[in-house]
Amino acid sequence: HLMVYLMKTNYSMTNLFLQPFTPPPAKYGGRHTVTLIPGDGIGPELLNHVRELFRFCCVPVDFEVVRVDSSASSEDDINNAVTAIKRNGVALKGNIETNHNLPPSHKSRNNLLHTSLDLYANVMHCQSLPGVPTHHKDIDVIIIRENTEGEYSSLEHEIRNVPGVVESLKIITRVNSLRIAEYAFNLAREKGRRKVTAVHKANIMKLGDGLFLQCCKEVAAGYPDITFDKMIVDNTTMQPQQFDMMVMPNLYGNVVSNVCAGLVRGPGLVPGANYGKDYAVFETATRNTGKNIANKNIANPTATLLASCLMLNHLKLHAYAKMIRKAVLKTFHLFSHVSISLQLQTADLGGQGTTSEVAHSIMQEIQRGGPRTS
Ligand SMILES: *[C@@H]1O[C@H](CO)[C@@H](O)[C@H](O)[C@H]1NC(C)=O
Repeated sequence: HLMVYLMKTNYSMTNLFLQPFTPPPAKYGGRHTVTLIPGDGIGPELLNHVRELFRFCCVPVDFEVVRVDSSASSEDDINNAVTAIKRNGVALKGNIETNHNLPPSHKSRNNLLHTSLDLYANVMHCQSLPGVPTHHKDIDVIIIRENTEGEYSSLEHEIRNVPGVVESLKIITRVNSLRIAEYAFNLAREKGRRKVTAVHKANIMKLGDGLFLQCCKEVAAGYPDITFDKMIVDNTTMQPQQFDMMVMPNLYGNVVSNVCAGLVRGPGLVPGANYGKDYAVFETATRNTGKNIANKNIANPTATLLASCLMLNHLKLHAYAKMIRKAVLKTFHLFSHVSISLQLQTADLGGQGTTSEVAHSIMQEIQRGGPRTS
């Protein structure tokens, strides 16, 4: 199984040299086509709000909707989605449910998407939002998570003739560690960040995390303008508010990004992005489906709307991204004026507003901002 895994993985050294990403060319008339995967739980309703808002703002994006049935035993659905994204280059998605009661042969659809499209960098910018009350103030950290290997290899087995003992493989490779470190330092420079911290557990996983750490050190040597630091993952989760940028293997990235989302008031607020050399997929930063609050018109649309702004930036539709982001953030500024706030925010932030009311107030805000084409 390991050999098959390694053969399937793309170890071409050309991956190491970051080419500047060029978004897919706009189609005739300057419009882009983007794959839309509604996903499960609150995904479909929140993405409907994105579509409505895009229509309202005359954003030159057409969506090609591809549904993925998370419980289907065949992988046809996810393969169709992968094909559509390969054609369009860009996707916006809701999270797809992964039922852990299904047999091990049923792989996470989200995970299959990342590996099939080689979306090796998961990027989350966790930021305190103006007007949203939180315990820690002024959080502003970018988390770079390796998105294709580590603990997510799906290589597990119960040892033959030894019932009750399971072996689960965590794969760390030099090539993929170098390329995620390179991605992090390159982005740090682009965004004017001063420090990158590699998060690890090399005191226990001396070889695997040791290799990851070593690769980060090597890459850091090429960026003397950026400070390199390292920290053990448990120590990191105790004081996550202090970082500038972090880079880490897959599972730590999952945990630390959820801790950070919690610090800025939860999963409803933070967008996330997955980038590879050729494709990009945008979604909420924490990959939960919110099944318990689905179809009740109470989910917070912020994270999904901000994810759509990241997507617009990626398509170089910067003016539209700025307009929508500004309107979304404006509703938080208003939030601090208690008298007008309750209808402007959803229950996760202590408000009484529905999803549609929040979406509507964002549209009103855009309308106040003047003409909608740019
Ligand atoms: C935890 O982090 C702090 C810096 O914030 C450092 O001084 C301390 O040595 C670290 N502890 C361990 C066990 O790594």
